[in-house]
Amino acid sequence: MKLKYAALIASLAFGVAGAANAADFVIKFSHVVAQDTPKGKAAEYFKKLAEERTKGRVQVQVFPNSQLYKDKEELEALQLGAVQMLAPSLAKFGPLGAKEFEVFDLPYIFDNYDELHKVTQGPIGMQLLSKLESKGIKGLAYWDNGFKIFSANKPLKSPADFKGLKMRIQSSKVLEEEMRSLGALPQVMAFSETYQALQTGVVDGTENPPSNMLTQKMHEVQKYATVTNHGYLGYAVIVNKKFWDGLPADVRTILDGAMKDATNYANKIAKQENDDDLAKIKASGKTQIYIPTAAERDAFKKALVPVHTKMDDRIGEGLVQLIYKQTGFTPN
Ligand code: LMR
Repeated sequence: MKLKYAALIASLAFGVAGAANAADFVIKFSHVVAQDTPKGKAAEYFKKLAEERTKGRVQVQVFPNSQLYKDKEELEALQLGAVQMLAPSLAKFGPLGAKEFEVFDLPYIFDNYDELHKVTQGPIGMQLLSKLESKGIKGLAYWDNGFKIFSANKPLKSPADFKGLKMRIQSSKVLEEEMRSLGALPQVMAFSETYQALQTGVVDGTENPPSNMLTQKMHEVQKYATVTNHGYLGYAVIVNKKFWDGLPADVRTILDGAMKDATNYANKIAKQENDDDLAKIKASGKTQIYIPTAAERDAFKKALVPVHTKMDDRIGEGLVQLIYKQTGFTPN
C-alpha cells in the first residue's frame, strides 16, 4: 500500500515535470553571477523574448550564481551538452585553447565602451567568435559588464601598494602577468569561491567591475577599492554548436533575433548598472572608494601597459596591433 502510494506520488511528480517541459526544445543557460547584474538581467531578458516569440516551443532555464556549475565545469558541461548556453567572461577562454580572447584582459587597452565596441561589434570580434567552432562551440554575441576596480583591505594608491598581496584573478595568463607587474601574487580561483577566500584571508584582494563586487557582497570583506578602470570584463554568449545547428531553421532564426535584442539590452544597461552599483558600494560605508589622481593613474599605466608587449606572443596573430589600429590606442 505504502509502495503504491509512493509510486502514485512519483508518477504525479513526473507528470508535473512533463508538463513543465512541454516545450520542444529546452535551453539550459548556466552562469556564475547574481541575477541582479548586467549578465543576469540580460539572460532573463533573452529567456522572456525566446519563450514569447517561439510561443513556448523553446523553454529557457536560467541557472544563475554557479547554481549548476562553477567556471571551469560549465565550459565542460557545454561541450558535453549537459547545458546548451553560457556567457563566460572573455578571461576564461584560455583553458579552452582560445587564448586570443585574453586580449580583452590587457590593462588599459580600452579607455571606454565606445573603443571596446569597435572591436566586439566589428570584424575582429566576429572573427574571434568563429575560432570557437573547432571546439564544438558557437559564439553568438558579446555582452558587456564593465571596467574593473582593484580592492583589498589596505589602500591601493600606487603599484607599490600591491607588493606581496595575494590577488584573486580569473583564469587568464594576461591577468596573471598584470598582477605580477604590480608585484602582487596572482591566485586563479573560481568566482563562486572568491567571497569566502576574501573573508577568510586566503587572498587579500581582487579586481571586479562594481556590479560583481556588490552582488557577491565582496564589498563587505574589502575595506578599500580604487577606481582604476584598468581593464575590461565582459562576456561571449556561447552555445553548444551541435545543439544550435540541430534546431529547426525557423526556431533558430527567432532565437537569433531574441539574442540580438538581448545583446542590445545588455550593452545598454551595463554602464549604468555599474555606475549605480559603485554608488551603492560607496553608500554602504563598508568599502572606502578612492579615485586616483591623474599622476596616480599614470603610474598605474606605466606599470601595466608593458603587459601588452609581454603577452603579445601568447595572444598571437598580430591581434594587439589590430586592436590598437581599431581604437587608436598608443602605448605611451
Ligand atoms: C569573475 O570570475 O570574476 C567573472 O568572470 C564573473 C563573471 O561572470 O562576471
